[in-house]
Amino acid sequence: MKVSMLLLGLPALGLAYPGMMGDMSREEALEMLREKRDAEAKPEKRQILSSLVGTVTNLVADVSGLLGSVASSVDPDNKRPEAGYTFQAPGSTDSRGPCPGLNLLANYGYLPRNGHVTFSEVIEATARGFNMGADLATVLLVFAILTDGDIATESFYLGAGPGGVGGLERHSTVEADISPNREDYYLGCGDNHHLSSRIFAQNVAYAAADPDKQFTLDCMSKQWAANAAFSVKNNPYLYYFPFPSIVATAAFNFYPQFFSNGTYEAGGVANYESISSIIGAQLNKNTGQFEYVPERWPAQGWYRRSTEYGAVQALTEAFTRIYPSYPVSMAFPQLQGGDLTAANALCMIYQGLNSITPLALSGEEQSIAAGVTWALGKLTAVGLDGTTLGCASSTLSPNEFLFPNSTQKGGPLNPPASVQSNIGSNVYYKTYFTSAPTTPQCSHSS
Ligand code: HEM
Repeated sequence: MKVSMLLLGLPALGLAYPGMMGDMSREEALEMLREKRDAEAKPEKRQILSSLVGTVTNLVADVSGLLGSVASSVDPDNKRPEAGYTFQAPGSTDSRGPCPGLNLLANYGYLPRNGHVTFSEVIEATARGFNMGADLATVLLVFAILTDGDIATESFYLGAGPGGVGGLERHSTVEADISPNREDYYLGCGDNHHLSSRIFAQNVAYAAADPDKQFTLDCMSKQWAANAAFSVKNNPYLYYFPFPSIVATAAFNFYPQFFSNGTYEAGGVANYESISSIIGAQLNKNTGQFEYVPERWPAQGWYRRSTEYGAVQALTEAFTRIYPSYPVSMAFPQLQGGDLTAANALCMIYQGLNSITPLALSGEEQSIAAGVTWALGKLTAVGLDGTTLGCASSTLSPNEFLFPNSTQKGGPLNPPASVQSNIGSNVYYKTYFTSAPTTPQCSHSS
């Protein structure tokens, strides 16, 4: 299964990133990836998921044990929501999707409540609500707009776009497999956006086992290891493109860094009370399952982090604290060589613009080139230009904009008909995925 994935993936890499494989022949590169895969498959590296998710009673006890106090040393200016921003559950026509941070901001009116948002609105709202650095928000936004939205209006939808086209749910663009608490796109039969009850139960178990009884970076790295092992084992379409793979990995550190009450590692607490409320996980004590409810800040009082969390810290933590607990082959030469730094990961992002498929794919080469030019302008504005980062410039060529296998099964342009029924904006007050979907068939209950 994995071999065929590698075989399919390699030519794509060679095409999208000429020169990346260095002097290596295709056979040598394949051999290297095979060795890496075999090392990954060693049983001791696997987490035994079933032993983590306890009985309903244990789970409820774990959760109760995690209820905690609000952060002690906080600046009142960081209290959220601010006056004038009130919680309102989204209506059935409001667009909500895989990002709990943006969903929450729309639920309070920091972003338009209908979920159709623009570049500048998101830059402002993410800083104000969570203290996300403008460089990190820009990186996310550039890709979201380019691949899931509309460049002319610099806008996109938080869930699915009109008619099920575009929006953050679009797979393998910004949304990716191996998410903290969502199922993989194909294993979930197109549902990559609702909170998964069984994955969150696993996350709670890791938090309960954590020395701090919190959703710490260590706790989230265990969550990554378990989710990555699960996807590598079960998802025949797992393919990690450079950009979405980075987002999905960094999303694990977003849990403590953005959702803590107060500043994580400076007195803030990433406890159950804070995390479950923000990601919309509500325990049903009778079933031991988590219902997915609209994302909101905890009613008891919540303080955003007091310092900005930007692109360099996010990538550094993703690749030093999260990813090493279960390395998955990614299209990064630096990962193979072990010399990955935040700067060269940012270079990968910058150069990775080559490999993505703009939503306006009907576009001839010219319009695609215009989109990439737009994106580069945005990145340069926040100091993330290739020259500053020291990226090789030769890899940006207008002839290689589309990653070659985007139309193959597993690529963003070819979802099988079976998954179409689950594409759509979030439906709340339901429980999704009470058990693990181990095959990409639409037979699970949700
Ligand atoms: C700035 C623009 C942003 C964009 C375009 C964006 C987009 C996305 C997308 C597409 C996903 C799905 C990734 C996946 O499949 O794993 C995601 C997940 C996530 N995002 Fe965002 N996001 C943004 C800002 C934020 C902010 C401000 C926060 C936190 C305050 C945040 C927290 C998260 C978390 C924790 C996840 C993982 C959800 C889970 O699986 O449990 N994001 N985001």
